[in-house]
Amino acid sequence: MFPPASEAFTRMESCARSVFAGYGFAELRTPLLEHTELFCRSIGEETDVVAKEMFTFADRKDRSLTLRPEATAGVMRALIDDGCLAREAMSRFFTFGPMFRYERPQKGRMRQFHQINAECLGSDSPFVDAELIDMLLRYLGVLGIVDVILKLNSLGCAMCRPNYRTALSAYFGRIEQGVLCPDCLRRAAVNPLRVLDCKQSCCRAATQNAPKFIEYHCDSCARHFATVRDALRGRSFEIDHRLVRGLDYYCRTTFEVTSAAVGAQSAIAGGGRYDGLARSLGGPDVPGVGFACGMERMALLLPKAPVSRPDFYLLAMDAELLMQSFVFVRHLRENGLRGICDVSQGSFKNRMRQAGKSEARFCLIIGSDEAADATVTVKTLDSGEQARISQACAAQYMGAAS
Ligand code: HAM
Repeated sequence: MFPPASEAFTRMESCARSVFAGYGFAELRTPLLEHTELFCRSIGEETDVVAKEMFTFADRKDRSLTLRPEATAGVMRALIDDGCLAREAMSRFFTFGPMFRYERPQKGRMRQFHQINAECLGSDSPFVDAELIDMLLRYLGVLGIVDVILKLNSLGCAMCRPNYRTALSAYFGRIEQGVLCPDCLRRAAVNPLRVLDCKQSCCRAATQNAPKFIEYHCDSCARHFATVRDALRGRSFEIDHRLVRGLDYYCRTTFEVTSAAVGAQSAIAGGGRYDGLARSLGGPDVPGVGFACGMERMALLLPKAPVSRPDFYLLAMDAELLMQSFVFVRHLRENGLRGICDVSQGSFKNRMRQAGKSEARFCLIIGSDEAADATVTVKTLDSGEQARISQACAAQYMGAAS
């Protein structure tokens, strides 16, 4: 990744650091590799991610390892190993980094992509869900990504999900043979919620009128979802009854942020609640909720950053003058100025051309006359104006002229 793309990534990361800090989040760094079993147990064997998209291989001792396809499972594994889930009432962490999924590459879909991930553990309050969604929207807003749609759904809990699954299975049972794709035909029996997530047009059409989870919520899930929606008052969102997300660990609130401007891969962020995950991985029964943003997709929407020009480009007229120039440039940088000291030996014309290309505000020239009386010729590149001033005053001169 080259500038300006790499600079856009730095901008997204530093903005996340400052916005998330305002909500009490701290940074966590987790490994790129985990035992394959972690992802099978957390994400689910029936998901596309686990069934088709993982980069999995055996290590030298024949243990199965996988390049992480997402961050949540690794974050949970790390927190359980560390014991801090049991220790602290609530923990809030964010992570950055590359993820790996063996998908068919296209615009906005890569095999190595980057996520900014936020996880909040230790509370099942619906206000935590709403606050996290609020944080995500605020973060996107601060970055200047505003033309987005927030989609919400609730996947219920262990109490009400069996009823919904039964209703869905009955619905799929009534669908004619050959309408669902072969994968969904199998999924309809094993994990019918996964059919709602299928992107094939035949399955999208077949699930259009499928039963809605909202009609099967137990009282507690209905109240939870109503509070999330209420707490998001003032934010615009739509309820997407088929938003089950591509990972099996979710319960209750699920959400996605999409934008039509990124093309077919329109989800720029997604997340939800995963209250049973810690326990299913052998940890304490600690509820959690989180989200991840896809950095490549956000980069497609990021407004251009204003160009930040270097202050100076310094040319020494010959090699003997480099030592004095070098010390002078150090003094400029110590005074807060940014720029380049040209150490090349080409023709003066070529080097002046380089100075122009650098987009610096000033070209500084040190020839033998300047070296003799500790002065520097300062050329303002925009106007062509030129002045010879003492090296001691140069930083102040350039600072005042900016
Ligand atoms: P996810 O929806 O699988 O969720 O991924 C989150 C975001 O990562 C997507 O909305 C998308 O922007 C980006 N993304 C996913 N796959 C690709 C790809 N192949 N190329 C480019 N971008 C991609 C998760 O990963 C969950 N772990 C989120 C979460 C955190 N849920 C709770 N906590």
